[in-house]
Amino acid sequence: MKIVYLSPSGQLGGAEKSLIDILASLSAARPDWKLSLVVGEDGPLLSKVKSLNIAATVLPFPQPLSRLGDAGAGSPGQNQSGAFSMLVKSAPAGLSVVKYVTRLRRELRKLDPDVLHTNGFKMHILGAWSRPREASLVWHIHDYVSARPVMTRLLRRYRSRCSAAIANSNSVADDLRAVCNGGMKVHPVYNAVDLDRFSPTGSKSNLDMLASLPQAPPGTLRVGLLATFGRWKGHAVFFKALSLLPPSVQFRGYVIGAALYKTAGSQYSLEELRKMSSQMGVSHKVGFTGFVDDTASAIRSLDIVVHTSTEPEPFGLVIVEAMACGRAVIVSRAGGAAEIIDEGTNALGHHPGDAEELADRIKQLAEDIDLRKSLARAGRTWTEQHFNRARLATDLIPIYCEAASLNN
Ligand code: GLC
Repeated sequence: MKIVYLSPSGQLGGAEKSLIDILASLSAARPDWKLSLVVGEDGPLLSKVKSLNIAATVLPFPQPLSRLGDAGAGSPGQNQSGAFSMLVKSAPAGLSVVKYVTRLRRELRKLDPDVLHTNGFKMHILGAWSRPREASLVWHIHDYVSARPVMTRLLRRYRSRCSAAIANSNSVADDLRAVCNGGMKVHPVYNAVDLDRFSPTGSKSNLDMLASLPQAPPGTLRVGLLATFGRWKGHAVFFKALSLLPPSVQFRGYVIGAALYKTAGSQYSLEELRKMSSQMGVSHKVGFTGFVDDTASAIRSLDIVVHTSTEPEPFGLVIVEAMACGRAVIVSRAGGAAEIIDEGTNALGHHPGDAEELADRIKQLAEDIDLRKSLARAGRTWTEQHFNRARLATDLIPIYCEAASLNN
């Protein structure tokens, strides 16, 4: 079996991390399969994939294409993909896309895949346009399609070129089925993580140093939000909740992450976030670490991990990472994120956007260390049962085999 993966982004957002885990899981389970990756831009994804002994090449997007929003950056409610059709229709930008498709087609003919696995909206469409006839196309959907009207129309139009779709949660799978009016085979496959790396024991990052802050006094409760700077990731909710904590809670908040994507407008800049934290009166209690590669060590440095997305989260990889590291996590309960926790047992929840409820939950955890410990224990067990990345190969191998056989 030869599988070629197409990723629009070379950064390390959720969809790309999920891809790395798939590649690791699959190459361990099926060393006889030939896997390779083609990426639309250079970035840290490339070296991570190469270190798994998997061939990875960059076929750089022309500028107009790379500036279009994709999975991680835009709000699910924003019509980022509207630009896609405008782009394709407008010359000369349209011409650069046509040229790109020709180059991609040539590259794919060389690689001669049985299955073409696409991992982001732009690649779902480019893959449908450039798929060699002998290859079966599998879309891996990481975000809600229905929130993007133009992408909805495009996926509907090209769904007959696609043999199967994978969705990262039941909620995303239902959304895609509705978009395709049932005319698409959709397999929900939850993401999974490396449980040796994301484990309660191991090194810890010095978050204060990363944020250029003096060391917080002993006993300080460390609360962190790990996310890209997408506008729907809820940084404002985080700052607001911190501002509502009573003086009895001695805390420091950490914003861990950066503006990863090239699309302007759909994500905050660091300056905007700093300004926001100062408008909410918490700037002296919040540190910004920037992009952190070793997220496991960053998570282990925290007492509480918050997930604050203001829109339904398709999956929420960081939730599973935090549970695997044995940390108490407070989740914005909507979408796929609500499916992957057992609220009250292995995580706490709050209504998306509700800063008061989030502040109540943080306060509850600050005052109840036993609750923190029991959530942490239950969270680790839960990830061992359901989110071990060896499971990815088990889930995906039959999907690939079936897709490939449809084309033979
Ligand atoms: C996208 C989704 C996120 C998910 C990730 C991996 O980034 O927005 O919820 O965790 O993909 O599937």
